[in-house]
Amino acid sequence: MSKTFKRIAINTGGGDAPGLNAVIHAAVYAARGLGWEIFGIREGLEGLLEPQNYPDGGLMKLNRDVVRNIAHLGGTILGTTNRGNPFRLKTTRPDGSVVEIDRSDDVVRRFHEHKLDALISVGGDGSLTIAHQLAQKGLTVVGVPKTIDNDLQSTVATFGFDSAVSFATECIDRLHATAESHRRVMVVEVMGRYAGWIALHCGIAGRADAILIPEIPYDINKVAAHIKRKTSGLRRHSIVVVAEGAKPIGGEIKLKASATAGHVERLGGVGEVVAHELQDLSGKESRAVVLGHLLRGGSPSSLDRLLGLNFGAAAVRALAEGRSGVMVALNPPRTEYVPLAEAVSALKLVPADGHAVTTARALDIAFGD
Ligand code: F6P
Repeated sequence: MSKTFKRIAINTGGGDAPGLNAVIHAAVYAARGLGWEIFGIREGLEGLLEPQNYPDGGLMKLNRDVVRNIAHLGGTILGTTNRGNPFRLKTTRPDGSVVEIDRSDDVVRRFHEHKLDALISVGGDGSLTIAHQLAQKGLTVVGVPKTIDNDLQSTVATFGFDSAVSFATECIDRLHATAESHRRVMVVEVMGRYAGWIALHCGIAGRADAILIPEIPYDINKVAAHIKRKTSGLRRHSIVVVAEGAKPIGGEIKLKASATAGHVERLGGVGEVVAHELQDLSGKESRAVVLGHLLRGGSPSSLDRLLGLNFGAAAVRALAEGRSGVMVALNPPRTEYVPLAEAVSALKLVPADGHAVTTARALDIAFGD
């Protein structure tokens, strides 16, 4: 079934990832090619919920002139990717108490008031869950998978991951030089939430000695013994990559902040703990480096640009084919559409017996198990 729309919208939600602007670029070119008008919702879904905050009423009119030179830029031209969830929006009551309220009906109402026919929603598991719920409320919605964490299932790749891994690998290359000069252990903490994809891939590419990931809880004594052995010859320095969600066997994930109304928990701090413990156990001077948000900034790699451009064009194609409640997914050599419900039903975690873990073990990289 082929569908003709007059006005569609695109929004970007959750943490930013290199490649967001490439998606917007391609969606605009594809939509304009079909004669559709396309608008960017400012700041997640806030442009619909709080239109009074924006001179243009929260909707940015997009055309080829506006997006011509953005595909190579990091961030998103739609402003912040605001993490507010309209189904559980953080609201401060007159008495000062903070509660979560459901304002999803307001989103739907404003969407119709603007005479929008369909939404392309670009996000990770959180934002795509919202997209799925909006589709269940009757909006025509197509999702686009975005996350540096690579933890979305049903697609072989998400854009943002390759840029994050490439930059982290470059950082590890640099850390080898300074670690070697001081005969130190450098512990590199990287993002990824509950998945170890970034740590695993940059750790292998950067030739780390140990990689600690959430999917394989570690014994710090085993990590220390491995490092002592690997630094007992001519080579005296060591690199350990730690995913922010890594945890010791029987232990807990290290948090910077617990979840509060409207905010998910913030992970972080495990790198510092591991560095201290390794110094004590191995007798080698250790330092921790947290790459954090550096992994999200910067220009998209050529792979992430291609993914973003492919996904943006495919999202418009999905709408033109009359689809809704689906996510664009890469399944080489094809780009396919999978139900949003399926895509957000579980996170894609590193399989402990997968090829990357197997390769790492063959390269004498320890996981501390
Ligand atoms: O999900 C992407 C991500 O970058 C995670 O890897 C990280 O834990 C989180 O976002 C950080 O979020 P914030 O921008 O709220 O610090």
